[in-house]
Amino acid sequence: MGPSDLEHIIDSIVQAHDRSVIVGPGDDAGIYLLSGGQAIVETVDIITPVVDTPFLFGAISAVNSLSDIYAMGGRPLTALALVGFPSCDFEINVIKEIMQGAISTLDKAGVMLMGGHSFDDPEIKFGLSVTGTVEKDKILRQKGSRPGDLLILTKPLGIGILTTALKGGKLKEKDIQEALQWMLKLNGDAAIKAIQSGVTAATDVTGFGLLGHAYTMAKGSSVNFIIDWKHIPILSKTMEMIDAGMVPLGAYNNLKFLEGKVQMSSSLTEEERLVLADPQTSGGLLITLPEDRLAQIKDDKGPFHIIGSVEKGTGEIIVHA
Ligand code: CO
Ligand code: CO
Repeated sequence: MGPSDLEHIIDSIVQAHDRSVIVGPGDDAGIYLLSGGQAIVETVDIITPVVDTPFLFGAISAVNSLSDIYAMGGRPLTALALVGFPSCDFEINVIKEIMQGAISTLDKAGVMLMGGHSFDDPEIKFGLSVTGTVEKDKILRQKGSRPGDLLILTKPLGIGILTTALKGGKLKEKDIQEALQWMLKLNGDAAIKAIQSGVTAATDVTGFGLLGHAYTMAKGSSVNFIIDWKHIPILSKTMEMIDAGMVPLGAYNNLKFLEGKVQMSSSLTEEERLVLADPQTSGGLLITLPEDRLAQIKDDKGPFHIIGSVEKGTGEIIVHA
C-alpha cells in the first residue's frame, strides 16, 4: 500500500477500534499485534505489465508486492496471487509464465504461495497479497526521522521513465538491463542492514516518486528533508528518454501534487524535476539514519546512496541543485 486515494476512503470510514491494530491504513503495510511481541504485517499490490516478457513481469511484480513488508521491517512468509486477464481470447500460457516468474521471486525471498484468485479484466494485471511477521520493537514506520539524520536511497531513479520508453517502443528490454536488475532486486537485505544500523524511519519509493514519498515521511516526522540533486543516483538513458518525451503521466501528476510542498532550486531543469517525481515500480527504500551510524551501513557493499539530510522543520522538502 501507499498513500493512495483508497486509503483516504478507508480512513474516512469509521471502524470499531481494535487495540491489536498497531499500524492501520496510511503506512506501507498494516500491522496486527499477536501475543509475545510478535505481529503480522499485511499488504497487497497489483500492477499492469511494465515489461514485455511475461516471466519477467511476474518476477518484478512479486518483488514490488513484497517491498511494503520489507519497508515495515517485516519478514514475508506467505503470499496469495491476484491475476486479472480477458477471459475470452487469452493465451493461458502467458498466465503460467507470469506465475513462474512470481514463484522465482518468492523462492528467493523464502515466501510460500498459498493460493490465489483470478478475475476478468480487459487489461492484464498481476500482484500479490503478502503476509509476514515483525517484532513489535523492530517496526519501521514512515515517521520517526530526526534532525541530523542522513537521507539514504537504495535504488537509482528512472524506472518509470525507462519502462514508459519500453512501452513507447523507444527502447527494447535488452536496452534496459540495468533497470530490470534493480526492479528484480528484493529490498529485504537493505531493510535488514538498515534495522541493524539504527534506521529511524523508512518507506519504499513507488508510485509517488522520490519526492512524493519523501514528503510523506518528512510530514509524518515533522521535519524538513534537504535533498541534493547532485547525489541522486539515476539509471542510464533516463535523461535521454525524457528528452524523447517518454515521461509517464504520473510524474507530471506527482509534480502537480507537490506544488507548494517542495522548494526546488530555481536552477533545476524541468527534466531533473521529472526524475525526482518519476513513479517507480519496485523502487528502493528511502531511509533516515543518524549520522553517527553511517559507518555501520557504509562498511557494507549495499547500495546506500546518501542523497541529503534531515533538518528541523514542519514537513517541507528542499531540493538543492
Ligand atoms: Co504499496
Ligand atoms: Co510502500
